[in-house]
Amino acid sequence: MQIPRLHPDTIEEVKLRADIVDVVSEYVVLRKRGKDFVGLCPFHDEKSPSFTVSQTKQMYYCFGCQAGGNAIKFVMELGKRSFADVVLDLARRYQVPVQTLEPEQRQELQRQLSLRGQLYEVLATSAQFYQHALRQSQGQKAHQYLQSNRKLKEETIQQFGLGYAPASWETLYRYLVEDKHYPAQILEKAGLIKPRKEGGGYYDVFRDRLMIPIRDVQGRVIAFGGRTLTDEQPKYLNSPETELFSKGKTLFALDQAKGGISQIDQAVVVEGYFDAIALHAAGINNAVASLGTALSLEQVRLILRYTESKQLVLNFDADKAGTNATERAIGEIAELAYKGEVQLKILNLPDGKDADEYLHSHTPEDYGELLKNAPLWLDWQIQQIIQDRDLKQATDFQQVSQQVVKLLKNINNIDTRDYYIDQCAEILSFGDDRLKPLRVENLLTQIAPVATYRKSMSLRKQQPINVNQRNAPAEGSLLELAEALLLRIYLHCPERRQAIIDEVEERDLQFSLSHHRFLWQEILNTAVEQVDLISTLENIYLELSEDLGLVSYLFHLNEKWKIEIPRTAQVVQAAIACIELVMSEKRYRHFEEQWIQTDKKSEPERYEYYGNALQAEKRRYHKLNEQRSFSIEEVQRFSD
Ligand code: UTP
Ligand code: MN
Repeated sequence: MQIPRLHPDTIEEVKLRADIVDVVSEYVVLRKRGKDFVGLCPFHDEKSPSFTVSQTKQMYYCFGCQAGGNAIKFVMELGKRSFADVVLDLARRYQVPVQTLEPEQRQELQRQLSLRGQLYEVLATSAQFYQHALRQSQGQKAHQYLQSNRKLKEETIQQFGLGYAPASWETLYRYLVEDKHYPAQILEKAGLIKPRKEGGGYYDVFRDRLMIPIRDVQGRVIAFGGRTLTDEQPKYLNSPETELFSKGKTLFALDQAKGGISQIDQAVVVEGYFDAIALHAAGINNAVASLGTALSLEQVRLILRYTESKQLVLNFDADKAGTNATERAIGEIAELAYKGEVQLKILNLPDGKDADEYLHSHTPEDYGELLKNAPLWLDWQIQQIIQDRDLKQATDFQQVSQQVVKLLKNINNIDTRDYYIDQCAEILSFGDDRLKPLRVENLLTQIAPVATYRKSMSLRKQQPINVNQRNAPAEGSLLELAEALLLRIYLHCPERRQAIIDEVEERDLQFSLSHHRFLWQEILNTAVEQVDLISTLENIYLELSEDLGLVSYLFHLNEKWKIEIPRTAQVVQAAIACIELVMSEKRYRHFEEQWIQTDKKSEPERYEYYGNALQAEKRRYHKLNEQRSFSIEEVQRFSD
């Protein structure tokens, strides 16, 4: 039976009536201690009680395993039951009349309630607008470009929902705000418009660009990439990071490719939007694009969900930038690859072509053939190491052996390792069979036993999985700590809330971690003066089936914290300073990277732009850096 959607009033009423002490007592023997109750935690094995229940806060929390939440969550977790199921059950037990929502009503309420819902809607409407404009006279040159330069059929243009953003400054703004009555604020949050620096009003972010909708796995538009049709810079303008869009977690075309990936049991990752589009147009429908950034572990995990044998082919550009991107991606995935959790292959197309260019002069079968013969990543890396080296030269030989040893050291599987030792020994004996046993011997002694390798790998941060076992980020980055700290102060110090909101808005701070960003957004959706803020937020998480585990530790305070909390004004400043510092450093590195990659002669304007941006950011960074050690110490002190 489908459980009907519950009315929010019913949920509220259940929360009020089902007292947590009552509910928990049914499963756990509780004793009163001070204001709270304590007992043995039902979520993990323990001999002395670290499970506490607060009647005033209507929350439970275990200091042993960090399980925590309100009455509804308690029953959910204990019985592995759904939110609606538990609420219905409690409603019955506490005689709360159950009201449900009609589908239409529910949709309307959801739309009003959830900012995300509104963002999805406005992005979908924009995508339709751009698609329409592509077929008007103003979009003719863009349409022409797709047909002639890109050789795309109407069918592919439709499939990817390609469109055109008109050239004037306010076309989309007028359409969505004046005709469709969307709030400008929503458009801004969706990354579609920006406020004018002077004179009020807004302007469209994307103007005179070919528009490529970026969709999530479910196919909902979450962002856009806009390609210029002239030689304007940047070549691609992308939506900023928003509530819905995080570049490092998204793969272009995954919605189109997921079926193909699971069917072929292999995924191909390319760099560019049009590489992915061209592959799909050629019938190679297991291709996704990395959005031009280094492929992250998170993105890889996302793809691997769809392939059973975990086969991944990286087909990045074969130029220097592409090779670097490949190296970076390998570094990111190495942990999985060494353990054999992903079968990684590297495909470099001939003549340094990208997939799109290649398919203009070759058949899909040609591409398929190259794909089939793509080297495994270790072979590719060995190739990279020996490329342009003369092994008969002493220095080259030494450097190559060192790099090879470094590579082989990390191979977990002994058979695989032996195979590659043999391969490398062969290469290092340059055809002289008599030398080979010596080389093997040599490599073996230089390669530490597998056990040491395991130890060093475990130092890498692992994402914990079990919701209840999840701890505060033990070795989290400074940014993670500072963001968490700021959120924690907001949650637990009502008198600081307004000040924090003001600071965040004034400095235009963004929370970088998506689970922090989500929490912050929900905080903003809730009134500053909300009394049971934490419990309200928890319900929102449960209702939206958001992962509570990543933030639930923020909802509870340990003893040390309770003592330190009076100093929070200072700590807020420190946390903000740290966030700004990290952001500035990131921007700095980004500008630097762009600047280095730009050729001064062929792109003087871009070169100057990034040069200037780099200098400005450097100054800002140094200024922030002056108070660095104080801020970092404060943040670390408070992050237990
Ligand atoms: P490339 O510069 O390799 O371009 O960027 P491309 O895909 O071959 O582009 P075309 O064929 O000239 O149109 C690869 C990817 O990097 C991102 C985009 O996702 C692009 O598809 N990128 C590139 C940006 O986001 N911004 C840029 O300015 C350039
Ligand atoms: Mn290209």
